[in-house]
Amino acid sequence: MYMQDNPKYILSIESSCDETAAAVLENGSILQAASLATSEELHQATGGIVPEIAARKQVEFIVPVLHDTLTKFQNKLGLSTREEAIQKIDALAVAVGPGLIGSLLVGVEAAKALAVAWDKPLIPVNHLVGHIYANFVNQPKTIEFPAIVLIVSGGHTDLVLMRNHGDFVYLGGTLDDAAGEAFDKTARMLGLGDYYGGVNLSKKAAMCEKSDLVTKLPRAKIHDADYDFSFSGLKTAVKRIYDQHAYSVESIARDFEDSIVDVLIEKTQRAVLEYGAKSLLMGGGVAANTTLRARMQLMCDKHLIPFYVPPINLCTDNAIYIASAAYFCGTPKPINEIQANPSLGIMDKP
Ligand code: KG4
Ligand code: ZN
Repeated sequence: MYMQDNPKYILSIESSCDETAAAVLENGSILQAASLATSEELHQATGGIVPEIAARKQVEFIVPVLHDTLTKFQNKLGLSTREEAIQKIDALAVAVGPGLIGSLLVGVEAAKALAVAWDKPLIPVNHLVGHIYANFVNQPKTIEFPAIVLIVSGGHTDLVLMRNHGDFVYLGGTLDDAAGEAFDKTARMLGLGDYYGGVNLSKKAAMCEKSDLVTKLPRAKIHDADYDFSFSGLKTAVKRIYDQHAYSVESIARDFEDSIVDVLIEKTQRAVLEYGAKSLLMGGGVAANTTLRARMQLMCDKHLIPFYVPPINLCTDNAIYIASAAYFCGTPKPINEIQANPSLGIMDKP
């Protein structure tokens, strides 16, 4: 929890999937140094992530990434030795899950080793909470609570009420595919890329202003009174239409993206009104989607509340937001109690 004597400089590590990243933040929001390496290209070549390869790349990248981050931090503070830079670091933070176990273990064990060697506290962080805190990095405004938070990533779609730092109430989430997963599976089906093709699908949609699909794709659960989502039926609906060869890929992509965005906006808007939200926060890889960002902004304008969404480079996985989450709502734990947890949910304590 947030305390007066919060650590000034936090060195954070993120290794949950195919990105290996480290960063140093001052007071949870001012970026001092960051470094990131990714094995994405290898997974593009194999048409999907191979966990074993991702883990081996984590092992290869972790030391150079840490080395680079520390060098940048040392230079940023104008310190003459590495020892002085290390002395400045008040705490370490690491994303312990969710993610791929082989990948997570690399970051978690590296962080534990450094914490022991340097005798510094280590703060375990929930990667999904990290996505939320991307909104607190370099944020000049004071984000007011209660806030509604929508996390849309490759593996998760969660709607959460944030009453304060670290004080979350779960409202709903996907019952099957996550939004990013739906984007990626549909992109693969439409021949738009085998790995993280969601971005390409969105680019195709942008080429078509208005879809000419006669029977629109389903907007699953849009009128249901709950805050849950279901995106798996969309794939089947897209396949049926694609197989008819009657519509362009651009048209199908347009209505697909609109279908996902319609449902996300509708449910988020309902939560904003029901809980009297003073702000809306979005995070996760899919928060990079241009249509979703623009329409969420319009919805917030309509209800006169500020909309916060990270810059694109902070939507996808990185270590910067891990340090922010650690600062605002993390607690150090004894080293032997810190474990990688691949199936951590948004409400689970790390
Ligand atoms: O949060 P993230 O980097 O990794 C996870 O923790 O899952 O999210 C990656 C997901 C992928 O499914 C990717 O296709 C999706 O975010 N994504 C997008 C866009 N940019 C990334 N989906 C739709 N439109 C985009 N512009
Ligand atoms: Zn993520």
